[in-house]
Amino acid sequence: MDQKEKITQAYKEIRKQPPWHQPSTPNIQHHRVLPHATYSPWLSDSDFLEIFHAIESSTLVDIYRCYELWQLAAQSLQVEGDILEVGVWRGGTGALIAHAVRNSQKQVFLADTFSGVVKACERDPVYQGGEHSDTSLDLVNGLIKTLRLRNTSILKGIFPDETANKIPGKLALVHCDVDVYTSAKEVFDWSAPRLSGGGAIVFDDYGFSTCEGVTTFVNEIRSAPGFTFIHNLNGHAILIKK
Ligand SMILES: C[S@@+](CC[C@H](N)C(=O)[O-])C[C@H]1O[C@@H](n2cnc3c(N)ncnc32)[C@H](O)[C@@H]1O
Repeated sequence: MDQKEKITQAYKEIRKQPPWHQPSTPNIQHHRVLPHATYSPWLSDSDFLEIFHAIESSTLVDIYRCYELWQLAAQSLQVEGDILEVGVWRGGTGALIAHAVRNSQKQVFLADTFSGVVKACERDPVYQGGEHSDTSLDLVNGLIKTLRLRNTSILKGIFPDETANKIPGKLALVHCDVDVYTSAKEVFDWSAPRLSGGGAIVFDDYGFSTCEGVTTFVNEIRSAPGFTFIHNLNGHAILIKK
């Protein structure tokens, strides 16, 4: 069997697996994603691998999405403004992003309740609120200290309600990793006008069957005027401001 036949065979096997569909969102179909491409630049990027291994145990985000965040953070150096992550949990992706821009003037705002997910609603088939409360401010501060990062500001509380007023100016990059519809919507509504031209909003959870509220929301705004929309098959949706 040649390589192509093997992949085709693997794909057929995967299609036999039970579906991930959520009964409440029948229009959002699921299927194991298995691109044929094999180029894996993260394996030869020693700077990335070093920081990824340092934050790996403090993140729920896989290496593919982490590598994309790493690259987007580096590219954000050409865009005016700071960086915002909403949905920090134990600090893994936030620290990765902060490390990528550590030699710049950019401030990285890390916003989380640090007591779990809020604003779950009927559009979220799995989340009920309170998930991911297994973290603390001390844990995140510890990671930041270990990595000697001096460019982060932690915003503890519900975003945007309690903490958005602490962000002073324009944004170059927003990482929205909040798991549920209403939080994702409020992060977008607050951030979109503050994003510089060329800046990006990255939605984690776009493609995970447990987070269909986020997929539902992103599908509502994917044609928003003034943005280019990219669906990356790794589970990211990216909106780039024109
Ligand atoms: C999946 S975790 C984030 C994962 C993290 N980025 C990582 O590296 O693993 C989702 C987080 O979003 C936070 N969250 C959800 N909605 C929020 C909101 N409106 N304001 C602040 N934090 C929120 C939760 O507290 C939770 O810690």
